[in-house]
Amino acid sequence: ADYELDGHPDFLSKEIHEQPAALRRVLAGRLDTRFATARLDGLRLDPRELRGIRRVTFLGCGSALYAGQIGAGLVEELARIPADAEQASEFRYRNPLVDPETLYVAVSQSGETIDTLAAVEELQRKGGRVVGVVNVIGSAIARQCGAGMFLHAGPEVSVASTKAFSSMATSFTLLALLLGRVRDLSAAHGTRLVEGLRRLPDAVETALQSSDAVAEVARRYADARSMFYLGRVRGAAVAREGAQKLKEISYVHAEAYAAAELKHGPLALVDAQMPCVVVVPDDELLAKNISTIEQIRARGGPVIAVTNAELPDGLADAVLRVPRLEPELDPIILGIPLQMLAYHCAAVLGRDIDKPRNLAKSVTVE
Ligand code: G6P
Repeated sequence: ADYELDGHPDFLSKEIHEQPAALRRVLAGRLDTRFATARLDGLRLDPRELRGIRRVTFLGCGSALYAGQIGAGLVEELARIPADAEQASEFRYRNPLVDPETLYVAVSQSGETIDTLAAVEELQRKGGRVVGVVNVIGSAIARQCGAGMFLHAGPEVSVASTKAFSSMATSFTLLALLLGRVRDLSAAHGTRLVEGLRRLPDAVETALQSSDAVAEVARRYADARSMFYLGRVRGAAVAREGAQKLKEISYVHAEAYAAAELKHGPLALVDAQMPCVVVVPDDELLAKNISTIEQIRARGGPVIAVTNAELPDGLADAVLRVPRLEPELDPIILGIPLQMLAYHCAAVLGRDIDKPRNLAKSVTVE
């Protein structure tokens, strides 16, 4: 029954709309209200070991890499330890420095991606501590890691990752919360996050209700030859994943930039034929993002703003709104309209949505 379309035109539509249920499963049994933290027993790390971790490095490919970038931002913000995300496909060829005080997190929906598996094996050969964040139980990466977190997002059939991606980002929020709570993160801050996470599936449900508005925007811009996706800090990885989705399923070229980099080169390409999708969280960088939008429009570039903030009237050509929860959860919620935008652009252009040309759901050979 898991593999049926349930009235959806394709699996991508089904999987996008399954996200509230998938996130409920990711969170099930993992929120500890009493101690304002997360319970991740599958990591097999006791509080002393958690305290001993000096850095977190996420490893993955494609959407799993972008999810890892969200995770790195969360770990840095909540646990105040350095964190980064690396392309698993490059890692093993680089003769990487493997640090015994780093927690390596291998991220993979399928658990079968050869580049990620090879990175895990190389890490283990060099004595690195690696845990898996994987959707498919019994998969090669899950077995090779032997510890970690299953997403329980359910089967993902469509090549473009959606519910697995948001489930990964949610699981990294749990990890960052746990790492924060054995360090300086206060119980009050922990409680705010636990409550926010509990409400996350409903907020995603609300975000999904704007599908018709997104479809309308897609009809206006799907014939673009290229688009920019821009975001800063909490919006940066969201923009990268949004651009990736558009490329994958609609074949429209898209490039993501940190918003502040725009003036260091890509602004030269902005004109009426270059729609710019700007991710605008309602956070301390709101004024900066508004000024980015003004700079684009001053060059005639159409702007699609994806936001949970109140924007001045007429600031952007199109505004896709999502609910506001806790700022730490912004990347997950702001990513939802970008999935739908890619979906509707692909639909307008008549693409084979579940099976884009040249791509495989998981790449198990080099
Ligand atoms: C392929 C898919 C991507 C996916 C990537 C990583 O390239 O086309 O959508 O993000 O593999 O897959 P994984 O199963 O390791 O998450």
